[in-house]
Amino acid sequence: MKELQEKAVKVLEKNWKNGFSIPCEGLYPFQWNWDSGFIAIGLAHVDMEKAIQEMETLLDAQWENGFIPHIIFHTETDSYFPGADFHCSHLHPSASKKYKSTGMTQPPVAGFALHKLYTISKDSKNTLLKIAPLLDKVYKNHQYFYNHRDIHNEGLVYIYHNWESGTDNSPLWDDIFSTMQSPEFTFERRDTTHVDASQRPSKKEYDHYLNIIEIAKEHNYSDEKIAELSPFLVQDPLFNTMLIKSNESLIKMYKILGNNEEKIQQLETWQQKSIQSFNKKLFNEELGAYIHYDLRNNTPLNHISSSSFTPLYAGIPSKERALILLKTMIEKFGNDHQYLCASFDPTSERYNPKKYWRGPVWINVNWIIYNGLKKYGFSVVAERVKNDSLALVEKYGFYEYFDARKNEETTGYGGNNFSWTAALLIDMLNNH
Ligand code: SER
Repeated sequence: MKELQEKAVKVLEKNWKNGFSIPCEGLYPFQWNWDSGFIAIGLAHVDMEKAIQEMETLLDAQWENGFIPHIIFHTETDSYFPGADFHCSHLHPSASKKYKSTGMTQPPVAGFALHKLYTISKDSKNTLLKIAPLLDKVYKNHQYFYNHRDIHNEGLVYIYHNWESGTDNSPLWDDIFSTMQSPEFTFERRDTTHVDASQRPSKKEYDHYLNIIEIAKEHNYSDEKIAELSPFLVQDPLFNTMLIKSNESLIKMYKILGNNEEKIQQLETWQQKSIQSFNKKLFNEELGAYIHYDLRNNTPLNHISSSSFTPLYAGIPSKERALILLKTMIEKFGNDHQYLCASFDPTSERYNPKKYWRGPVWINVNWIIYNGLKKYGFSVVAERVKNDSLALVEKYGFYEYFDARKNEETTGYGGNNFSWTAALLIDMLNNH
């Protein structure tokens, strides 16, 4: 295991670009929002200065209204599509003047990532001093979410693009895309020059992705207009779990810092409402799992994905409900021929074990689920998720995602030497 950790550290060293990390060479040449949070957690074990810098750079790209973009285009390169010139973040009046970015966000991991930095640190006093100003930026980000993305005042925020979910081409979105008539765009894919097309989203899917962005751009990325007009508007259990977990982390950090009573009170109010609505609206008793809700078409998306199990991480389900989740996970995702945890229900006809978020195992979601299971005392299954993650990386390399089937075809897919795979492996190896 020492050797594996050394390899992981090398991956992170190679992907470090003077102040931030790229997810991997070639395929993803910029800074990604939730990648940075996970990467910082891994870096914290080996180089706290870099870990803090990773978060500082991400938060330096925050917009005046509190929004944090999903990609920050630090460099000019045409090896990625769609790049800065397509996204045109400057259309929004509050956009950063310093950085070009996308006009969408990603799961809000910054709050709990900062708390992890603090707990990992061997010099917690000094770390606290450095991250204190960052906490206020994250707080402002949460204010943005609750003020602009919770249209029915439920404590549940929406995402307006599948890329905001992080689970880009999940079969969940098929139901929504089937309601859309997207035009055929002419463009040159770059991802499929780095990775085999069978492991990536289809052209038709990219047409939908671009169409949603075009609609947002027509209205200068106005939240109000997006809420009114975007054909994609979803309450995502993974996204909201990340927000709720980050609320909890901010509360903990502000209590340690002191003199932040008002913010703590506000966070606690959000927290209570969010957890209550989450359990009321996003749990499907019949499936025994948390599900997504399509706000645009006013209908639940009744499918089980790895996102369905992530609420454990933020302590959202009751003990009783957590047991139901565990049962669902073992029955559907966890037979002896499968690694935990496939990204989509392996018993569904939409499952594809090779294609990106349509089935493969992802180490970041495994990390979330592992920590969630541990929180509820489900240590046997937690260890299984951890050991499956370690085994996949050890056998096949630091890939972006992995075939969930245990057979001779099993292998890693997507980008290689992938930063968050390395970072979270380091965290799992050092988590006792
Ligand atoms: N992961 C996306 C891509 O495939 C963007 O966030 O490019």
